[in-house]
Amino acid sequence: MTPHLSVGSLLMLCALGFAVCAQQPASSSGTALYDPATLPSGQLGSAIRYGREVITNTRRVLPGYEGANMDCAACHIAGGTKARGGSFVGLYARFPQWNKRSHRMIALQDRIAECFLRSENGHPPAYTSRAMIAVVAYIAWLSRGTQAFSKEPSAQRFIVALPTASPDPVRGARLFAQRCALCHGANGAGSAAFPPLWGNLSFNTGAGMSHVKMMTGFVYYNMPKNAPGTLSLRDAYDIASFVLSHKRPVFRENAPVHFPPQPAGYF
Ligand code: HEC
Ligand code: HEC
Repeated sequence: MTPHLSVGSLLMLCALGFAVCAQQPASSSGTALYDPATLPSGQLGSAIRYGREVITNTRRVLPGYEGANMDCAACHIAGGTKARGGSFVGLYARFPQWNKRSHRMIALQDRIAECFLRSENGHPPAYTSRAMIAVVAYIAWLSRGTQAFSKEPSAQRFIVALPTASPDPVRGARLFAQRCALCHGANGAGSAAFPPLWGNLSFNTGAGMSHVKMMTGFVYYNMPKNAPGTLSLRDAYDIASFVLSHKRPVFRENAPVHFPPQPAGYF
């Protein structure tokens, strides 16, 4: 690192994931990782700020791109800054990456598009759109200080080893009524404030969350929202199996993907 770099170019390098800045581990509250007061000025700062908006207020900012009644932050808690809560911290440095599903190297934009298609049961914005550019800038900002090709620290992931016995959805239904229905509704449909767990307005069958292993880990570490950490792994597994026994939109694997021609140009 030369001592002649300007503050601006240093911040740019940080935002691009170079190891010139202090490593920023995902925190339990996440607040330290995103402080609007510390963003770079100019276009980069505007892009990061708007990217945060897209993640936390997807339905308001991008109406029509999501079929599910939920923002990205329904699963990427605190805007993707909470450890074991779908954290984006360090993620920029792990792309491009090999994708088993499509047998090729994919870009971060491709991975974002996947969550629009599956988790949001919707359509991705064009890669040249203001929204896509902003989400990439936001994730890059949260990844400042992470070296390229870093592995995700296991303390950041919500993946768990499932219990060996098969899950019991009947017990899961009982626990759901006691611990989840208050917010997500007895019919799992949620509301404007609480995301749906099943039904027409939930994530589709192609989403990561539709796998019992993924939902068990997410619920174990993050739910119930008013008392996370109070469920046993067994509880979370039974509840996830009950939640996933209900109908949800079917992912159409071979449906063509439309990228709306929406060029960027307004940062
Ligand atoms: C229904 C829950 C859900 C919603 C809503 C959702 N995601 Fe995801 N997302 C996931 C899950 C589950 C994963 C996989 C996490 C893993 O592999 O550890 C994931 C992974 C990702 C990744 C890759 C992370 C990694 O560690 O490899 C990105 C980027 C991403 N999502 C972006 C988005 C964006 C942008 C939106 C909103 C348009 C969104 N997600 C909405 C559940 C969701
Ligand atoms: C006090 C309200 C509350 C309770 C109780 C609660 N949740 Fe949530 N849940 C939320 C909120 C709010 C979110 C969106 C993420 C966030 O803001 O943290 C969420 C998100 C989720 C998600 C990811 C988004 C989606 O809709 O798929 C799942 C899965 C989930 N909750 C499952 C559960 C389960 C299972 C229980 C019971 C063990 C539960 N929740 C209890 C409020 C609650």
